[in-house]
Amino acid sequence: MKIGIASDHAGFEYKSKLVDLLRKKGFEVTDYGTFSDASCDYPEFAHALGNAIEKKEVDAGIAMCGTGNGMAISLNKHQGVRAGLAWNSEIGRLVKAHNHANVLVMPARFISYQMATRILNMWLKTAEDGGRHDRRVSMIPVK
Ligand code: RB5
Repeated sequence: MKIGIASDHAGFEYKSKLVDLLRKKGFEVTDYGTFSDASCDYPEFAHALGNAIEKKEVDAGIAMCGTGNGMAISLNKHQGVRAGLAWNSEIGRLVKAHNHANVLVMPARFISYQMATRILNMWLKTAEDGGRHDRRVSMIPVK
C-alpha cells in the first residue's frame, strides 16, 4: 500500500515521525511536504496530496495541520478524496468503518504524538463497513 502524507508547519514534527514509523511498518511513503517548521500555507500541501490521490500515485493519505480543518477542507475539494478528521482512536475507527475515509486527518496541536500513533494504527487496521455505510458513502459525490 502506497501512502501519501502532508502537513503544514503545525503538523511538521508529527509528520516527520510518522513517515519513519510507516516506513518501518513496510509502507511505501511519499512525503508531499512541508519540509520544515517554517510558517507555510496548508492548502499548498493539501492539494499536493489531493492531486496525488486523484492521479492514483498513492492509495491513501495522512494529513495534519494545527486543527486538521484546513487540511480536511482543502483535501475534500478533490475528486475521490474522503478526508476525515479524527482526534481519538475510536473516531479513527469510525472514520474508516463508516465514512470510508481514504485520508486520515489529525489535529496536531490538539493531540499528543502518542495519540496520533494510536489513531493511525486504528485507522490502518480498520476495514470499511458495507451495507448502509456503502450506500451513504456512494451518495456523497455531487453529480
Ligand atoms: C496554522 O497556524 C493553522 O492555522 C493551521 O495549522 C490549521 O490549523 C488550519 O486549519
